[in-house]
Amino acid sequence: MPPPGLRIRPAVPQDNHSKQRVVDAAWISGHGHLFPRSVERLLRGERPEETFSYEYPRDKGIPIVADIRGQVVGVIDLRPLPDGSLLIEPIAVDPAFQRHRVGSELWKAAETLARRRDYRALVVWAVDGNKKAQGFYASQGCTPFASGKVMFDGVEATATGYRLDLAQPAGMTPLNVDIQ
Ligand SMILES: CC(C)(COP(=O)(O)OP(=O)(O)OC[C@H]1O[C@@H](n2cnc3c(N)ncnc32)[C@H](O)[C@@H]1OP(=O)(O)O)[C@@H](O)C(=O)NCCC(=O)NCCS
Repeated sequence: MPPPGLRIRPAVPQDNHSKQRVVDAAWISGHGHLFPRSVERLLRGERPEETFSYEYPRDKGIPIVADIRGQVVGVIDLRPLPDGSLLIEPIAVDPAFQRHRVGSELWKAAETLARRRDYRALVVWAVDGNKKAQGFYASQGCTPFASGKVMFDGVEATATGYRLDLAQPAGMTPLNVDIQ
């Protein structure tokens, strides 16, 4: 069960500070063991250029947050790609709330929106070794379709692209979603 009071809603500029806190903490929780130097820099208040920065609006994406009574606990940003799919970048849940279905509710909101707007697939990338992301994307029915190299502070790693094709009608109703 998701935490009581969880609400999925469009992000507003006033959320940016909270979003940045959630994304940084989540990034460390998923990648810290792979990129210790980037973690040190983040904790020193520096910003490795590859980590996400919320200078709103970052791009023409669709920003969504999960909040519990006004506290942002999760973030998902969606960006249309030229091939008709929707890229998720990033998806992040406050480590204090991970494994409580917050990510799943954000994913449902993204999937519902994508289906309503006739996107053909959801696409997302994860660094190999980020077991949280790998387990989560598998749980959402994604399959790997591509791989590539990423670089964080001079450390090279492999990343895998996952996709969920949206040919089938949605079989789920999201919780408290007020995204159109
Ligand atoms: C990936 C992430 C968004 C998942 O959010 P979450 O709210 O913790 O996920 P949920 O509670 O909805 O989990 C749903 C299912 O995903 C899978 N899953 C989630 N976390 C997992 C983990 N740490 N290990 C293995 N599988 C996991 C499980 O199947 C889980 O179902 P279960 O709890 O019944 O076993 C979150 O762990 C996170 O923010 N990670 C750090 C940032 C990150 O890596 N983002 C993605 C790459 S950019």
